[in-house]
Amino acid sequence: MTSHEAGQTVGFVFWVSASSAQRLGRKEQMSQRKKMALVGAGNIGGELAALAARQELGDVWLFDIPEKLGLAQGKALDLEQNGAVLGYDAKVRATAAWDDLAGADVVIVTAGLPRKPGMSRDDLLSVNLKIIRSVAENLRTRCPDAFVIVVSNPLDAMVYALKEVTGFPTQRVVGMAGILDSARLQLFLARAVGVAVKDVRAMVLGGHGDTMVPVPSYCTINGIPVRQLLAPDKLAAIIERTRNGGAEIVKLMGTSAYYAPAASAIQMARAYLHDEKRLLPCAAYLRGEYGYQDLYIGVPAILGGSGVEKVVEIALDPSEKQMLDKSANAVRELIEASKRL
Ligand code: NAI
Ligand code: 2OP
Repeated sequence: MTSHEAGQTVGFVFWVSASSAQRLGRKEQMSQRKKMALVGAGNIGGELAALAARQELGDVWLFDIPEKLGLAQGKALDLEQNGAVLGYDAKVRATAAWDDLAGADVVIVTAGLPRKPGMSRDDLLSVNLKIIRSVAENLRTRCPDAFVIVVSNPLDAMVYALKEVTGFPTQRVVGMAGILDSARLQLFLARAVGVAVKDVRAMVLGGHGDTMVPVPSYCTINGIPVRQLLAPDKLAAIIERTRNGGAEIVKLMGTSAYYAPAASAIQMARAYLHDEKRLLPCAAYLRGEYGYQDLYIGVPAILGGSGVEKVVEIALDPSEKQMLDKSANAVRELIEASKRL
């Protein structure tokens, strides 16, 4: 039962008469509450805060630049009021002061510009790189023990830059993209075959860009390989739509997607906070896995209480491995370009 429900059920007298014992008990409880820092309180940041609060993952700090503080404060207050309606127990606060993020258990970074129609994710490189480096500099001293999930684009280069500047262990710095890209593939497959989306498992690896690698050999419908249920031309069209899944939404709304991106990052945060040992596609740091060194790229990884606990190497057919090599090269070029900036 949440404290809100308790308040409604037993009423005001309970809170007054039991005050001192309650205060002591609750103080102890508060010290164990997790702290989530959401850097960037824009479209994804707001939805992250809503999901984190609703799932009671911890108390939430929404951070943004001073010019956007009012918007962040408004979202925080709205979300706390939403807790009164829905009965969840989470503090949601907004700030433009880095010190307020001190000691966060989880940090999710969405700071930066989103895509506009016609822009590729890579077009955001120079502007978002500056932002990510300054964010990382501040996190380095305030949140040295946090599990950090980067969402800002171009994703693979941004997560690499954040790792470089913070110097945090690579198992605590990870990028979100694979869950989102796989979710898009899952949905399109479900619609094409005419089955429930929850019965579809799909996997997209590689960089979060035009070279991403949907992996049909690991796409199944309740265990049945999708190639048994879908003609090759239909599958090829779905793979192409998945690759353009971000751009399709940017074209429709003039900015990038935020509901599914936020839900994907929260799935990763939850896997860490609850030590769930989820096997999820994420941008993880590679030291020789799949033949790549010193690179962040989307691969299956086990996420648990220690962060990225294992990068899982799966067998790929030759054409899939060729596509992954191409994607790794594109990510490497972007990382090299960002090192020159
Ligand atoms: P948004 O524009 O709604 O929010 C970004 C926020 O970052 C703004 O409120 C802005 O004021 C803030 N910001 C800018 N500089 C900052 C700084 N130095 N410190 C803190 N905050 C700062 O954008 P949205 O839609 O939330 O997207 C955020 C990022 O996520 C974009 O780069 C977008 O391309 C990326 N994205 C990544 C996806 C993925 O799968 N990895 C999916 C969708 C979007
Ligand atoms: C997306 O895939 C643009 O990266 C963003 O929706």
